[in-house]
Amino acid sequence: MNAIELLKQDHQLVKTLLDELSETTSRALKKRSELVRRIELELVQHTAIEEKIFYPALKQAGDKQDEKMYFEAKEEHRAVESLVLPDLKKTRPDGVEFAGRAKVLKELLEHHIREEEEEMFPRAETLLDHPTLDRLAVAMQQMKKDIKAQWEKRAA
Ligand SMILES: [Fe+2]
Ligand SMILES: [Fe+2]
Repeated sequence: MNAIELLKQDHQLVKTLLDELSETTSRALKKRSELVRRIELELVQHTAIEEKIFYPALKQAGDKQDEKMYFEAKEEHRAVESLVLPDLKKTRPDGVEFAGRAKVLKELLEHHIREEEEEMFPRAETLLDHPTLDRLAVAMQQMKKDIKAQWEKRAA
């Protein structure tokens, strides 16, 4: 699996989890909390491998336009990480605000994923050769594992 395939697989999983979350009702307390936790873990891992490994490789190989795309993507990560997700985490899963906040997270992430898959990844495929994409994937897999282990240690 190369770097782009790995990121797309992550996207698919997050989209599935967000769909599941949007189908829950305020009675599904445990399911909602569980899904928020799983989505958070996926996002923490995914954002890290993009910002620490994938985006810098692309930025380095690209031009001014790619740099613009890089900063825009990072801002979207920041909005999710420091605003929308923390808000959802502190929202009672049986409260009236939950569904609306979950929807905002879903729409923001779907938009972000679409831009990455339709603009950024095709660009990366022209800028980065196959050995590079494979090498990035190995580093990304490792970083995901490390983050997950840390996360589980913290939760234990
Ligand atoms: Fe991203
Ligand atoms: Fe992504």
